[in-house]
Amino acid sequence: MACHAINGNEAAAGRVGPDLTHFAERAMFAGYILPNDVEEGPDGAETVSAWLADPQAVKPGAQMPDLGLNDDQIDALVAYLATLK
Ligand code: HEM
Repeated sequence: MACHAINGNEAAAGRVGPDLTHFAERAMFAGYILPNDVEEGPDGAETVSAWLADPQAVKPGAQMPDLGLNDDQIDALVAYLATLK
């Protein structure tokens, strides 16, 4: 919420990172360099899961921090991001 905006979620008004309102509609992400597989869901979204696990490992220099998320948290976030159509 500090970094990302999501329309319809007043708490999410961050401007540091991209607006995630329609994230699930995007074919690519992270500056259009990574294929967006979020629609594959927690078991199939390898790229988005890897991004959430460690953004810098996937895109060196990315300004998104490693949030130290565990697998359950990543799965829950992928399921949520897949709803952002
Ligand atoms: C659980 C928390 C978070 C989730 C689920 C999340 C999710 C995402 C997603 C899906 C993207 C790709 C967006 C796109 O390219 O369309 C992204 C990018 C980004 N996020 Fe986050 N984010 C989180 C926390 C944060 C925090 C705390 C910050 C700031 C300190 C942040 C900063 C950024 C930045 C700067 C980018 C652009 C990176 C780039 O393209 O190089 N994010 N985030």
